[in-house]
Amino acid sequence: MTETGVDALRRVPLFVGLADDDLAAIAQAASEVEVPAGQLLVQPGQAGTGMFFIAEGTAVVETKRDHVELGPGQFFGELALMKPDAIRTARVRAKTPLRCLALDRASFRGLVATHPEVAAALIEVALGRLAENAGIDDD
Ligand code: CMP
Repeated sequence: MTETGVDALRRVPLFVGLADDDLAAIAQAASEVEVPAGQLLVQPGQAGTGMFFIAEGTAVVETKRDHVELGPGQFFGELALMKPDAIRTARVRAKTPLRCLALDRASFRGLVATHPEVAAALIEVALGRLAENAGIDDD
């Protein structure tokens, strides 16, 4: 059975509470990206062009302090989209073959403008990640 974009988005905790129509609109705006194990998706210092929701596989985020694995339902690449001139904060590569739904900057802006609850949840995750990278989390 092939999983649709909507199926993949339904597993994203950030989107809990969104109606099927909203998920369908996000899936419509997103493009599917499939990469083999080992491929780099995000390089630190580059401008952010989009963010990625993982549908299948595992990605590794290499920050200055740590390596963090992300899997289905999780996302990356949001930080560099939250400010117009922000740059990527970490390297992200596929640990296994990876299938993602990618949202470009314009679609990301549309998503947060129309869904303040998604924007609030994104800010929470983003702050947690920045705190972890700065060594000010309590783990
Ligand atoms: P961005 O800075 O656009 O590109 C690199 C991405 O790695 C970043 O967005 C986050 O999505 C992700 N990232 C950075 N730090 C962490 C972390 N500590 N835990 C999980 N993901 C992270």
